[in-house]
Amino acid sequence: MSSSLNRRTFLSAVTLTAVATAMRGSQLVSQATRGADASIDVLAQEPIGTIAPEVYGHFIEQLGGVIYDGVWVGERSKVPNERGVRKAFLDMMRSIKAPVLRWPGGCFADSYDWRDGLGPRRPQRTAFWSQEDSNQYGTHEFMATCKAIGCEPYLAANVRSLPAKDFYQWFEYCNAPAGIGNDLASQREKNGSRAPFHVKFWGVGNESWGCGGDMTPEEYAHAYRQYSAWLPRYEGQNVHLVGVGPNGYDLDWTRRLFPALNGHLPWGLSTHYYVSGDAKQFAAGDAVNFTNDEYYDLLARATTMERILRDHWLQMQASDPAHKTRFVVDEWGSWFGPSTRLSPKYNLSQMPTMRDALLSGLTLDIFHRHADKVAMACVAQTVNCLHSLLLASEDKAVTTPVYEVFKMYMQHMGGQSLRTEFVSTMLTNPLAQLTPVGGASATGTIPPETRVSALSGSASRSGNRITLSVVNTHISAPQTAEVRLRGVGVSSAEATVLHVDDVHAHNTFDQPNAVRAQATQVKAGNGGSFMHTFPPASVTVLSLTVA
Ligand code: AHR
Repeated sequence: MSSSLNRRTFLSAVTLTAVATAMRGSQLVSQATRGADASIDVLAQEPIGTIAPEVYGHFIEQLGGVIYDGVWVGERSKVPNERGVRKAFLDMMRSIKAPVLRWPGGCFADSYDWRDGLGPRRPQRTAFWSQEDSNQYGTHEFMATCKAIGCEPYLAANVRSLPAKDFYQWFEYCNAPAGIGNDLASQREKNGSRAPFHVKFWGVGNESWGCGGDMTPEEYAHAYRQYSAWLPRYEGQNVHLVGVGPNGYDLDWTRRLFPALNGHLPWGLSTHYYVSGDAKQFAAGDAVNFTNDEYYDLLARATTMERILRDHWLQMQASDPAHKTRFVVDEWGSWFGPSTRLSPKYNLSQMPTMRDALLSGLTLDIFHRHADKVAMACVAQTVNCLHSLLLASEDKAVTTPVYEVFKMYMQHMGGQSLRTEFVSTMLTNPLAQLTPVGGASATGTIPPETRVSALSGSASRSGNRITLSVVNTHISAPQTAEVRLRGVGVSSAEATVLHVDDVHAHNTFDQPNAVRAQATQVKAGNGGSFMHTFPPASVTVLSLTVA
């Protein structure tokens, strides 16, 4: 483990990005005050849009230890469970008010036959990620999981290896009303659920540019029209379809897809962006053992998410000027090599550290800053996988530093995102020259991120509470900022901070509380401005009561 401070990185950190006074909208944004490293202006009169609670969504798939062991332990298991679903998973999801859960994939979805997961006899099949999928976890088990959590189900339909008829029939099975003589509704009743599941969110395929069929944008547009145009509809049910969007920054996919959809615009555009631990190679790098240079590189590349949203939004505008379609970032997170796998059986499982907590804060803040564009997002994947909130094996379970950020940021859910201006030191990405154009996990042509802001974040308002979240990416230096609430005063303030001395720190079954958020002091006076110091490599949430 290398954690010594890299001198090059440190020296590059001593230039302030902006010292000049600037006009932004109708508000005056001025430079950092003397004695401060940065300024943060929350423009209370400049709303961006409502932060959809669904931006805090989740994703689980038949992959490694995600479903089997992570979620599903079976009713006869000694592991505490509710109808076969691990109780620790349900408790964790309830504690963060998880709004939506995506299943069955991922790549698994495009080889999955939903009929295999119904009734008492379940065939064992060769599946996308494994030789032996038992199909014990199927539609009813997934719906029971969502019900127990209190979240919306989001199903991804198979477009690569099942015809459109199967999508219609799965839709019918889930949503057809009871008691009208519908055969699939009767089968559903026989399998334990008379009431329809009312599934609102449906993905029409997954990564159709890759594991979902190696299609061109035009081929996928054709499939999307065919699968979606004549889908049965039931009274009183509001259905949101999600079409397959780009792999990272692949602007060409979006540029060609939209005209080819021929007016059949989906509610959501599924957008996937993973940040690899190795700038040169996707799905590589070590989750726990990384250098300071790799730390800055990963965080710098995490911010590419913002360019993806901005540039694709503009691209979509050409065919969709009213922006009927918004982003559904239904796979995001870090993706490292296999060295920290929980077990050899648990494909793609990795150990989330404090560095991943920072990546989570940066990403969620980007979603808030683009609340007008992002309708939903799902972290990949919730348990025993890439960017997980929970690690679980047999009777042990522990929440990760990523979970801490989801818990701290909960108060943003459903809030009105407010324009917030940060003036802060820019830190150099020492590995930018090694990063392939477009980033290791993204196709398309954009130059790599050469810098990352020391302080960045987002703000939102719910009633008389303003929530301000701030990430300090500087690995060793605290950053003091003057926080200014433009247009409102503050009567009281509370703060929570996630900070540990070592960015490699992580929670294990033996040391479950190595990385935990804590309440911290904040001195906000009666006015709308105050100074606050953000510890190095930290995530902070300030909860400010408007006077
Ligand atoms: O989350 C792991 C995999 O990453 C998913 O199955 C796939 O959609 C993506 O490539």
